[in-house]
Amino acid sequence: MIKYILIILAVAAIVGGVASLVHLRNVNAKNKAEMAKYDNQAEYINNLGKTLVMYYSMSGQTEKIAKQIAELTGGELYEIATEEAYSSPSVYMKSKKEYESKQYPKLAKNLPNFADYDIIFVGGPVWWYTMAVPLFSLLETADFSGKKVVPFSTQGSNYGAFFEDFVKLAKNADIQTSANFNNMKPEFDAQVKNKIIDWLNKL
Ligand SMILES: Cc1cc2nc3c(=O)[nH]c(=O)nc-3n(C[C@H](O)[C@H](O)[C@H](O)COP(=O)(O)O)c2cc1C
Repeated sequence: MIKYILIILAVAAIVGGVASLVHLRNVNAKNKAEMAKYDNQAEYINNLGKTLVMYYSMSGQTEKIAKQIAELTGGELYEIATEEAYSSPSVYMKSKKEYESKQYPKLAKNLPNFADYDIIFVGGPVWWYTMAVPLFSLLETADFSGKKVVPFSTQGSNYGAFFEDFVKLAKNADIQTSANFNNMKPEFDAQVKNKIIDWLNKL
């Protein structure tokens, strides 16, 4: 009996491993194809007015994008922080529980005065096919009162319902065109920057 269980477990592990490898290969190929569209050096020419770039980032990917948006637009950065910081691997189970029970984390700081800005970017990672729970916390308290609001995400490969949920929950926001960024190897830094510029120029 034990022998059969071991065989089944081994087969499951092999099938899982092969499926992950195939998935990774497909994601890499998709990323490469997307980045090829942004090979040409782009120039930021838009003027968005007074810009606020709000972001939550656990492991730095969203922060990297947020900093580039702020640098290009001359905007101010605001990091969304939680009273209790998240870290891997506990974030997986903790955030899933919080999302499912709608018990979102407490934010650590007061929100900026939105009235001081013409346009507000709000970015964060995708967790469990939607926004990371700190963004749910933000949207529970924030009232954007007719401000232009631009959501952006970073993710492994699938942003799921991130933008749908954002639009549903961002109170009184005048939502602008969003952008999403798969995690990229540093070799694509120039293309990612061109993608950001292309998006900003169209806003
Ligand atoms: C708890 C958790 C859940 C995640 N769920 C998804 C997901 O559903 N889809 C996806 O493509 N990536 C998922 N990821 C990967 C992150 O979205 C991705 O690495 C993101 O760029 C991290 O951003 P950060 O470095 O700003 O924290 C998840 C990561 C964590 C920690």
